[in-house]
Amino acid sequence: MSRTRLLPAGAAGIAEAARLLRDGELVGFGTETVFGLGADATNDRAVAGIFAAKGRPHFNPLICHYPTAAAVFAHVEADERARALADAFWPGPLTLVLPRRVTCPVALLAGAGLETLAVRVPAHDQALALLRETGRPVAAPSANRSGQVSPTTSAHVLEGLGGRIAAVLDGAACPVGVESSVLDLTSSGAVLLRPGGLPRAAIEAVIGRVGTGITPAQAEAARGLRSPGLLVSHYAPGLPVRLDATHVEPDEALLAFGPPLPSAAATFQLSETRDLTEAAARLFAGLRELDARGQGLRGIAVMPIPAEGLGEAINDRLQRAAAPRP
Ligand code: TXA
Ligand code: MG
Repeated sequence: MSRTRLLPAGAAGIAEAARLLRDGELVGFGTETVFGLGADATNDRAVAGIFAAKGRPHFNPLICHYPTAAAVFAHVEADERARALADAFWPGPLTLVLPRRVTCPVALLAGAGLETLAVRVPAHDQALALLRETGRPVAAPSANRSGQVSPTTSAHVLEGLGGRIAAVLDGAACPVGVESSVLDLTSSGAVLLRPGGLPRAAIEAVIGRVGTGITPAQAEAARGLRSPGLLVSHYAPGLPVRLDATHVEPDEALLAFGPPLPSAAATFQLSETRDLTEAAARLFAGLRELDARGQGLRGIAVMPIPAEGLGEAINDRLQRAAAPRP
């Protein structure tokens, strides 16, 4: 493949993106969380193309996107908890891991051969229009090369995957900015496998206590077991990342949260007013921007971010960005 097309926002671009998806091509598209790299989830060859374009290990299962909860529950088995969560939070940044129905037409490769499937309905008008028009579930991981920072603009997608995919649909902002929360409902105790755009407390308000998924350190030990996507080093910019910084060296870039520490070589403000929602929305763009400005710099220092609410997801991504590289 030579050139990746940038399709315009609006009906014509959406129609063309849907046609490409139905033809088995790969298309980047915006959601409320991050840009996804979409493929027709029922097409084995298209799904395999996702792994190839991302350079992602084949054992890592993908999230399937649907336009409605009814379309989701035609493909997976929902219990009361799943229906209550769908009522409360779909469309929205919550992914549920549920058992596949025997009749589920989704390619086994999309679920990495597991008998479960990760499913969600994105809260994003353009994404929903694309899903309705495509008429098939769309498997979509974040639209970045494996291990790199997730994209929140079409330009980010082109930077990472240009020349490797058919098209990117332009014009969608990603208001949440971190990936969806992934909740495993395949056993009686619900487990939060990945903290994300829907805070844990919101989930617990509907179904009660939720177990904690594996931490980055446990993920290292259990790599390839429960949720194989949870590699320790992930979301990694080129520069080394230092967390909980209370001072900054003159040859460091600063990812600030609140009034910035003085004397950084470059500063990106996540949120002047220490608003976690704003910080999540700006997180990946900030890592990218400091990385791009970081010629000759030692690394990126990150100011402490509280662990409550969306802070759980923000800190999870930052810990992965700071983890030792493979
Ligand atoms: O916000 C999002 O979730 C974005 C947008 C594009 O929707 N997508 C995304 O997909 O982040 P991806 O593939 O980067 O992350 C999928 C996560 C991984 O941690 C993966 O291991 C987990 O979901 N997952 C997928 N299927 C699973 C399954 N059957 N069992 C357990 N974990 C699963
Ligand atoms: Mg990803």
